[in-house]
Amino acid sequence: MVYGEKSDVFSIQTINLTKRFAKKKHRGFFSFLRREQSKKNNAVTVALDKVNIKIRPRELFGLLGPNGSGKTTMIKCLSTILIPDEGTAIVNGFDIRKETSMVRASLGMVVGGERTLYWKLTARDNLMYFSSLYKMHKRHAKDRIEELLETLQLSERADERLEDYSTGMRQKVAIARALLHDPPILLLDEPTLGLDPGFARQIRNQIRDLSKKQGKTVLLTTHYMDEADQLCDRVAFINNGEIVAVDTPNRLKAMVKETELVEVSVYRPPADIEKQLRSLLPEAEVVKLIPGDEAEGVPSRIKIIGGTTEEHVGKIIDALRQKNIRIGSLNVGVPTLEDVFIKLTGAKLTEGGMQ
Ligand SMILES: Nc1ncnc2c1ncn2[C@@H]1O[C@H](COP(=O)(O)OP(=O)(O)OP(=O)(O)O)[C@@H](O)[C@H]1O
Ligand SMILES: [Mg+2]
Repeated sequence: MVYGEKSDVFSIQTINLTKRFAKKKHRGFFSFLRREQSKKNNAVTVALDKVNIKIRPRELFGLLGPNGSGKTTMIKCLSTILIPDEGTAIVNGFDIRKETSMVRASLGMVVGGERTLYWKLTARDNLMYFSSLYKMHKRHAKDRIEELLETLQLSERADERLEDYSTGMRQKVAIARALLHDPPILLLDEPTLGLDPGFARQIRNQIRDLSKKQGKTVLLTTHYMDEADQLCDRVAFINNGEIVAVDTPNRLKAMVKETELVEVSVYRPPADIEKQLRSLLPEAEVVKLIPGDEAEGVPSRIKIIGGTTEEHVGKIIDALRQKNIRIGSLNVGVPTLEDVFIKLTGAKLTEGGMQ
């Protein structure tokens, strides 16, 4: 290998992987009439900025970041759907720039999940159809499909059309499709996005089994911090295309362990609450309001990191009471990945909890 390190000990290794996009500007239908605006627009988004990560065989690795941080771009580059602008990645020993067909044979991918299946076909027929695209031998494909339907608990309803399935069941079919050719590596883009809690849990358990029982290497993206925390052996934080930290969830959380933490859930906080609390708690390193979805019963949360908890709690309760802000709950001292993310980047991870 020319890259100076034995890459075959890793299932996936990215080397300064960089992807830029031209910023799309919608100037309206008649923009072609306005000559002055038709000049070149050089604005670029750096979706991946010199990303270096190493994922070991059988590892369940999470890429955790907010909307637009580069998660899907990463999955698309690794699966050779997108060509990077700089750098490269080695997947199962193959270079994504030079050995695309070997890379594709090495992995199964779920991006956009259920939307990429045929809803007029049954689950079994979808899988048969995709197995023929993969040029699988018919007899072998049939056996493999039965096995996958069984593993993913889809057998009973395998002959119903996908249009009659729930989102979660369709997501399972998408995962089954990714597993058809029994690849050693799985790339899953937000596998539980939009699923109800029961299905999300089932999918998470199945992903855990794929890694722990079947020995697959799994790279999954998520913006649910609890999902990354519970599921992943190691987690990389991504923000604005940059990897800001990589470690086990426990070691990441240990980064804020010595710090005092307070989290208060509140209803209908005024817009300037962050500012008010910040002036009230000058010792706090971070005061962050994470808006909830009150119509859906998810309260907003105020996070205070740093300073002295004891002092803070009293001051916070007084201040909120004075303003007649309803307090849902108050938690002290249990760090989450979200706290670490906020501390490292100043950015919010997500606007709601895990599904
Ligand atoms: N085809 C494209 N053309 C232009 N910009 C793009 C394109 N694809 C992605 N981007 C931009 O690149 C950045 C990273 O996008 P990406 O979809 O990888 O983020 P993400 O982390 O998957 O976000 P989300 O959580 O919303 O799915 C964003 O700023 C996005 O607008
Ligand atoms: Mg995405």
